Amino acid sequence: MMLLVVSGASKGFGREASIALASHFRHVPLRIILTARSESGLLQTKQGMEQMLDSCDNDKSQYKSNLNHVKTLYDISIHPMDLSQLDCLESNLQQLVDAAMPMDRYERVIIVNNAGSVGPVGPMTSDTTLSDISAAIQFNITSSIWFSSVWVRALKDHPHTTLINISSLCALQPFPTMATYCTGKAARDMFHATMAKENPNLRFLNYAPGAMQTAMTTMLKESNSLDNELSKWFRSSELIDPMTSAVKLVSIIESNNFLNGSHIDFWDV
Ligand SMILES: NC(=O)c1ccc[n+]([C@@H]2O[C@H](COP(=O)([O-])OP(=O)(O)OC[C@H]3O[C@@H](n4cnc5c(N)ncnc54)[C@H](OP(=O)(O)O)[C@@H]3O)[C@@H](O)[C@H]2O)c1
Repeated sequence: MMLLVVSGASKGFGREASIALASHFRHVPLRIILTARSESGLLQTKQGMEQMLDSCDNDKSQYKSNLNHVKTLYDISIHPMDLSQLDCLESNLQQLVDAAMPMDRYERVIIVNNAGSVGPVGPMTSDTTLSDISAAIQFNITSSIWFSSVWVRALKDHPHTTLINISSLCALQPFPTMATYCTGKAARDMFHATMAKENPNLRFLNYAPGAMQTAMTTMLKESNSLDNELSKWFRSSELIDPMTSAVKLVSIIESNNFLNGSHIDFWDV
């Protein structure tokens, strides 16, 4: 049996990564845990996964005949929660870990730490406030690294665990007017690289999915505060379909040919 946990699974890359991973691993029984704030978005993702998994009837019957003790071939639960709320983060994340228990039933685990926001956009000399920065750092760094920490604690002795941090080119390269976002992505990369050193028995990957067509980039395209050159680039470039990037992530995980804790970009492979 395999455990798949995805944060930010209600739309965008998180939704497509959930579907691509479930599709790739459809031959094994799947326990899937999806989280984000929007319950309706999570339900849509769940339905998309169910449609895809149910359409694999041939695979299912073949598998069922081999493993009679498996009652259902997948079990998907959705957990709406606001990961930016640190006062209830402990109990919210515990709810996810409890939903996954017992851990010793999994032969393989994949955790995708995908939830993120772009935060305040604009030059730091403009009207960005301390509270804007604090909220963005709280969600994109503190909450995000605690999300991974909770899973590392729960799975530290579990072989075949891969934890993917959804990174960005912004983790490596400064982009004017996106300082808070770049800072958050760089911090998350370093955290997961350090986790790889502390927990060499687990696999960590910082995956930069490329500039994709999602709500996040729609917001950037519409922003009046984004750097002019960046704005032109976003408006004139053909952005990657998130499913294309999700399929590439699956192939990177499957090849398992990456240095533990490294950063791999969509365009690198
Ligand atoms: N789009 C790109 O070009 C691009 C490029 C590089 C990296 N990335 C990274 O890829 C990841 C996904 O981005 P995306 O483009 O798919 O963006 P998106 O469409 O805006 O999706 C963001 C996801 O995060 C969830 N989320 C946001 N705030 C949350 C909160 N407070 N609590 C819980 N969940 C929250 C959203 O769900 P709810 O709104 O339902 O909570 C949604 O599922 C992010 O980490 C982003 O930085 C994106």
